[in-house]
Amino acid sequence: MAPVPDEPELRVAPSILSADFGSLAEAVATVAPVTDWLHVDVMDGHFVPNLTVGPPVVASLRAHTDLFFDTHLMITDPGRYLEAFRDAGAGGCTVHVEVGETGALVDQMRRLGLRVGLAANPDTPFEAIEPWLGRVDLVLCMTVFPGFGGQAFLAEVLDKVRRVREAADGAGLALDVEVDGGIDERTVVDAARAGANVFVAGSAVFTRPDPGAAVTRLLGAARRARAGVRT
Ligand code: DX5
Ligand code: ZN
Repeated sequence: MAPVPDEPELRVAPSILSADFGSLAEAVATVAPVTDWLHVDVMDGHFVPNLTVGPPVVASLRAHTDLFFDTHLMITDPGRYLEAFRDAGAGGCTVHVEVGETGALVDQMRRLGLRVGLAANPDTPFEAIEPWLGRVDLVLCMTVFPGFGGQAFLAEVLDKVRRVREAADGAGLALDVEVDGGIDERTVVDAARAGANVFVAGSAVFTRPDPGAAVTRLLGAARRARAGVRT
């Protein structure tokens, strides 16, 4: 049996979807001292019923921060844009398993030198992700249906989070397991206990008076929850 990998690093990835799009650089500056990842939500009005930003905004933000851009592509044809996101400064891209052509997209992201992420909607089963676990760096379990910030956390996804973490541990894979949607100081605890180690939070960070302090509180809650699991 493969050795169980070390405890994965816990991090909060603030989602700029809930920030003021007119002052993104200022919003990023509020969280940069307390995290090393920024979650960038890309929507095409087709895979999800909403539109957000593309490579030009990523490139503009890149000039303002060294944070790792965790770029969540909620788009139907990500293969067309991966290179543009890499060139704009995305460190990792996450594509949805529901758009298909997963093998080709994973290979393309690797060739481009991107960190490779694979996302699954709340109603997409573990079995759809399982074949890819050994080929990706990150699995994103959506804890809301993608498209909008500020939705309620879907606790039924936690079972999938648990299965992804158990399968990764069983195979000796140091996989990032990310949750996205409805993460706050309460739900972050349940997600951490289930095995998630990257917590995307939009409204629980950028609608708070002090976004940096909100990140620190979320991370503290996640750390305490993981410590509870390990003891
Ligand atoms: C939703 C996006 C999320 C969103 C989460 O489709 O993928 O990243 O920003 O927002 P909250 O944290 O407000 O649920
Ligand atoms: Zn997202």
